[in-house]
Amino acid sequence: MIKRAFVIGYPIKHSRSPLIHGHWLKQYGLDGAYEKIKVSPEALPSFLRKLDDQGFVGGNVTIPHKEAVMALCSTLSQTARMLGAVNTLWRDGQHLFGDNTDGIGFIANLDQNAPDWSHNAAHALVLGAGGASRAIIHGLLSRGVERISLVNRTLSRAEEVASLFGPRVMALAWSDVSEVLPDVDLIVNTTSLGMAGQPPLELDLDRVKDTVLVTDIVYVPLETPVLTKAKARGLKTVDGLGMLLHQAVPGFERWFGQKPTVTPELRALIVEDIIKPHG
Ligand code: ATR
Repeated sequence: MIKRAFVIGYPIKHSRSPLIHGHWLKQYGLDGAYEKIKVSPEALPSFLRKLDDQGFVGGNVTIPHKEAVMALCSTLSQTARMLGAVNTLWRDGQHLFGDNTDGIGFIANLDQNAPDWSHNAAHALVLGAGGASRAIIHGLLSRGVERISLVNRTLSRAEEVASLFGPRVMALAWSDVSEVLPDVDLIVNTTSLGMAGQPPLELDLDRVKDTVLVTDIVYVPLETPVLTKAKARGLKTVDGLGMLLHQAVPGFERWFGQKPTVTPELRALIVEDIIKPHG
């Protein structure tokens, strides 16, 4: 039986994961498949119970299953437990393992596109306090960022996230952003501001150091308004597409036994899909 992997969500139409994994399967000449499967919340337990029968070696989990799937795993990685969400599953016999690779994906994207970033990253400003924000904070702290200012529209959510990580992460109200801007080395947008159809993220970039690196996890559009402004101001920027590509690496390696690389060809394939009109 060929090795099969999946991405499950509800809805699932817009997932670009099949394009990514399909590209790698072809590139490495592997006899495997990666499929998009719509699974309702009610059907999740029975879908996961029957993986073995269907030749599934694992897969990705997206909205709304990232939290619910935790209770159905036999083992969770420390990262998944800490973040309270799973995006990658793999099977070993009857055992189902759950991990979260969003933080690894975020960091690998910086390593690839701004290789020296960690030499100048004592203080990071993270905007947004959702699931992605937690994974990114976890990644930044594990790479030695000393201090993180966490800003969110709803302050209580920022406080909740900060309390998970201890004194290196400080929750701030949106009105305090301008105060910290002159001190930060890295700015990360994890909110949906700047996404197609949403208002832009407004930051007074005239107040930041010339050495600041600005990154966004939004990748539709590829260049969000805040990245355009940062570039115009002469700042280094990294867009969000690389995080999507890099978070897929650990899963592919687990399921198919080959560590894939994120190449310009893969990026071009996804860019093409982003810019083409979707019906
Ligand atoms: P994810 O899991 O992808 O991070 P999420 O949990 O929906 O997504 O989080 C979205 C983030 O964008 C939140 O930080 C949200 O702020 P709130 O916690 O206050 O809702 C932020 N966000 C969304 N729309 C926003 C807006 N118009 N202005 C400011 N922040 C916004």
